[in-house]
Amino acid sequence: MIALGCDHGGLALLDDITQYLSSKGFEFRSFGTYSEASCDYPEFAAKAACAVASGECDRGILVCGTGIGMSIAANKIRGVRAALCADCYSAEMTRRHNDANILCLGARVLGLGLALKITETFLNTEFEGGRHARRVDMIAALES
Ligand code: RB5
Repeated sequence: MIALGCDHGGLALLDDITQYLSSKGFEFRSFGTYSEASCDYPEFAAKAACAVASGECDRGILVCGTGIGMSIAANKIRGVRAALCADCYSAEMTRRHNDANILCLGARVLGLGLALKITETFLNTEFEGGRHARRVDMIAALES
């Protein structure tokens, strides 16, 4: 289950990503926003990030204008490793090495084709574990 969240700046791109997820058979749950009215991204980052942190959802995708606000806010939630990605290499490596559980995208930064490729890469890449697990554990230790 993938948790989805966006603000008004990310709504159109997240709609396109949602269609892509449907076409590929991914299950998802949207935590809003649902309209183009101006809103505050931390609210929706928190809702989706909490769903990932609690285990209700396995991964998350958050979209705002730049992706920056969403990533800053989501990373405040314990257990969340949100990665802002603007290229496929970063999306692959943040799964392989950081076990990132939330992908953040900037709708005003990325074209649709690249955003979908980044999404596909993020969702289809597994964590490598090993020495990277030790480092991820060290990140978790910073939370306590
Ligand atoms: C909204 O105008 C914009 O600030 C927001 O979408 C995001 O880019 C924040 O980081």
